[in-house]
Amino acid sequence: MDVERLKAKADEISELEIKRLLDRTPGSAELHERAVRSLPKGVASNFQAGDPYPVYLQRGQGSKVWDVDGTEYVDFHGGFGVNVVGHAHPKIVEAIRKVADQGIHFAVTTPTTVALAEAICERFELEQMRFVNSGTEATMDAIRVARAATGRDRIVKMEGSYHGHHDCVLFSVVPESDVLGTRFHVSGESADAEGTAYTTQPTSKGVPRSMWNDTIIVPFNDAQAFEDVARQHGDEIAAVILEPVMMNIGIVVPQPGYLQALRDTCERHGIVLIYDEVKCGGTIAYGGATERFGVRPHLAAFAKAVGGGATVGAFGGEARIMEYVTKGAAQQGTFNGNPLSVAAGYAALTEVLTRDAYEELAKMGTLLAEGCQRAIDENDIPAHTVDLGAKGCVSYRREPLRNYRDFLETIPELFYASFSWMINRGLFLTPGDEEQWTVSVQHTEEDVRRYADAFGEFCAELAA
Ligand SMILES: Cc1ncc(COP(=O)(O)O)c(C=O)c1O
Repeated sequence: MDVERLKAKADEISELEIKRLLDRTPGSAELHERAVRSLPKGVASNFQAGDPYPVYLQRGQGSKVWDVDGTEYVDFHGGFGVNVVGHAHPKIVEAIRKVADQGIHFAVTTPTTVALAEAICERFELEQMRFVNSGTEATMDAIRVARAATGRDRIVKMEGSYHGHHDCVLFSVVPESDVLGTRFHVSGESADAEGTAYTTQPTSKGVPRSMWNDTIIVPFNDAQAFEDVARQHGDEIAAVILEPVMMNIGIVVPQPGYLQALRDTCERHGIVLIYDEVKCGGTIAYGGATERFGVRPHLAAFAKAVGGGATVGAFGGEARIMEYVTKGAAQQGTFNGNPLSVAAGYAALTEVLTRDAYEELAKMGTLLAEGCQRAIDENDIPAHTVDLGAKGCVSYRREPLRNYRDFLETIPELFYASFSWMINRGLFLTPGDEEQWTVSVQHTEEDVRRYADAFGEFCAELAA
């Protein structure tokens, strides 16, 4: 199918659907007008912003959410992958209510805090862990502890990966094309002689330029690139941090042998292997990426789904590394292990997100992915689906992605047309093509069919 014609059709669909969206969301328009006075862009976080305004939500129940105009949607946004338990799950609500009656905050460790730590350690095969309050804090503290344990400053991260908004990982998150050239054409910023690793400017304003040198970038799914940089700079590198399955450019699964090769290189050079399981930890298997892919990291960072909707973050791993939090590495926080959050997390992990639940989530996810793939095939759309437990996505490129550069070959126009099409048909999705759907334990086959049917109609319209 002619891609230029498809893009033109997608733009047509977008124009029509965005107009419909604006016509039917006057309550969001009004709230936006009020919100921009106190909140830049009218939102609590840059990732919540929308153009010209986001659809603001009022409430959620089960698999559904309602916007401020009272319109109902089936929720596949899932709070950016947090809500694998769905909304207002009775077990989570009960746990939070109980705590609300008994003291919401002490800044003192409680029995439930310890119980949740035990549950997280058991589930994700960690010897020890500490609590934090977000994915950002989890990766930040994991990196600090790795630096403390190795006495080294530099870290390696993957091109195009997101690990939260602390300074040292805000490099090459969405790299521009002029920087991408560095990997193949060795220039001043190449970090190794092969030119496969590079250093670059911060992705965010406000990150000190002086930090450039300490974050080295390599491509995902390229064990040799990491081996090269480790061979040349191994004694300067504290850690390599990666999502074992990249989930901020659609979904990119690790090639067979890749994670083991990284681990082997780390072992040889005394580098700490850190998995960022913030997104995949509570979603792709009971035991997260370690269980699903069978290669254990030295440290791992968690947040999102492990809190059952409350603000829980955690990081942990080998005790010989974690012990550095008692040997001079700062690891603290007033709200760490907050009773309200840990009660929700404990109920989520022990009563809702059981092994059986992951079997059901996988069935639901496969039903959805197969439905979408059928629509793609029938209409010859240049796209593919990825199916991974509670997570999945459509990426607008025929072949599966191996790294960030493949993601740059996807066709964003098709995604944006699909987004407004779906939201106008009662399906609440994440607003960017880098994101995925999240299925919850409260989603039904009917919910999933509704998504697949609407997506099928979208593909047919695109191809018409
Ligand atoms: C892989 C990954 N790591 C870290 C983070 C940061 O988590 P938080 O937004 O809770 O700070 C995110 C957030 O989307 C993420 O996707």
